[in-house]
Amino acid sequence: MFHMGWFLSYTVQNWRDPWNGNGSDLWIEPELYIEAAKALERAGFDYMMFEDGSFIPDAFRGSMEYALSNASIAPKHDPLTLIAPIARETERIGLIATVTTSFYPPFLAARLASTLDTLSGGRFGINLVTAHNDRTAQNFGLEQHHEHDLRYEMADEWVRAATALWDGWERDALTLDEANGVFASADKVHYANFEGTYYRTRGPLNLPPSPQLRPVLCQAGGSQAGMTFGARHADTIIAQAGDVPTMKKFRETVRELAQEAGRDPDSVKILFLASFVLEDSDRAAQEKDAQMRAASEANIEANLAMLSFSSGIDFGKFDLDAPVPEIETNAARATTAHHLRNSEGRTLREIVSTRSTGAFNFVGSVPTVADQMSEVAAEVGGDGFLVQAPIIPRTVHRIADGLAPELRRRGLIRADYDYHTLRENLLAF
Ligand SMILES: Cc1cc2nc3c(=O)[nH]c(=O)nc-3n(C[C@H](O)[C@H](O)[C@H](O)COP(=O)(O)O)c2cc1C
Repeated sequence: MFHMGWFLSYTVQNWRDPWNGNGSDLWIEPELYIEAAKALERAGFDYMMFEDGSFIPDAFRGSMEYALSNASIAPKHDPLTLIAPIARETERIGLIATVTTSFYPPFLAARLASTLDTLSGGRFGINLVTAHNDRTAQNFGLEQHHEHDLRYEMADEWVRAATALWDGWERDALTLDEANGVFASADKVHYANFEGTYYRTRGPLNLPPSPQLRPVLCQAGGSQAGMTFGARHADTIIAQAGDVPTMKKFRETVRELAQEAGRDPDSVKILFLASFVLEDSDRAAQEKDAQMRAASEANIEANLAMLSFSSGIDFGKFDLDAPVPEIETNAARATTAHHLRNSEGRTLREIVSTRSTGAFNFVGSVPTVADQMSEVAAEVGGDGFLVQAPIIPRTVHRIADGLAPELRRRGLIRADYDYHTLRENLLAF
């Protein structure tokens, strides 16, 4: 069996897609995400994972114009706010939202996470990212972002500080002893007194322990420092690797690093980004896939903008017909390297005409895609897939009500949730 998640943003969901309803308005409404969550819960998904960032990209051609004209990466609301209404309308699906360790003080994040874990009955998780862009850093008062590996060193300390806060309340600290007038026992609530190089927090949190005590920790960095951080702390890692050998290598590396950190590698569930072209027949799916590829290849502008976003470097200024320039980035190193892989001896035009999203692309009818997923999971050795697609009802239902029932019939995904909390469901297999 494998786990399933859905990767999404609280942003405009392909506003020019003819199937998105009134997409220019709908994307703001919680109902869109609540309906998707209900469908994915019906399908037995482990979680929905909301990515986030706090800037409007302006590296590409030195302007915000591309991002704003195309609703690309921006505008975007804070996904933490969406968790509460979705949690109210669902019962079992996990809900993960992104928080950056670089700019959320540990106390603020630990308190928010604990509250959302309580409101969701133990189904909340935070996706810890270090944030990769100078623009984000400038929004929080820095001239430029901290050096790449230092960000992970800080993140490591951040998790220790937050954990000291989550550990502050013993599970039975709420005595609720009406007869003796003791609501909570002060001897079961402890100061964190955390003193690190980058963070200090006294604690304790001023709220009772949440169902999971410590929310699920998710992580998404692909560099060596990112993988080491994830292997040390994460319950689930979301990763991009477009082919089976890369997936296999990534999973083996993370599992080795987890073992070195003294953890059971099976306690880290790695979900790989996956995209789907599902149609009624294999032929129709292949035709659709070919059309989508041709459209993406023709859209050099979009691919240059994505590279500029991940690297923070203006790829609009380079000669398209010259070899890909050597660049050094302090931004999202692994993502940029992924987009530029195999670029030796090729021009920039060739590279941006064959952009890979980093997701494994499944193409076919429902039975064919179920076969493909089963084979990939067997070869990679676990743990699951993270659907990368906009929240457009038709897209959600193809997966939740078309593909998932077939996967369930074959025993590849859960028939039902065994537990109420996200961590327990992740650890169930
Ligand atoms: C599946 C996936 C999801 C990600 N989600 C976010 C996100 O929500 N916010 C963010 O700032 N970065 C996100 N990132 C970027 C990573 O945090 C990281 O910056 C990037 O993968 C580069 O890795 P590195 O910094 O370890 O080199 C994501 C990356 C991947 C692969």
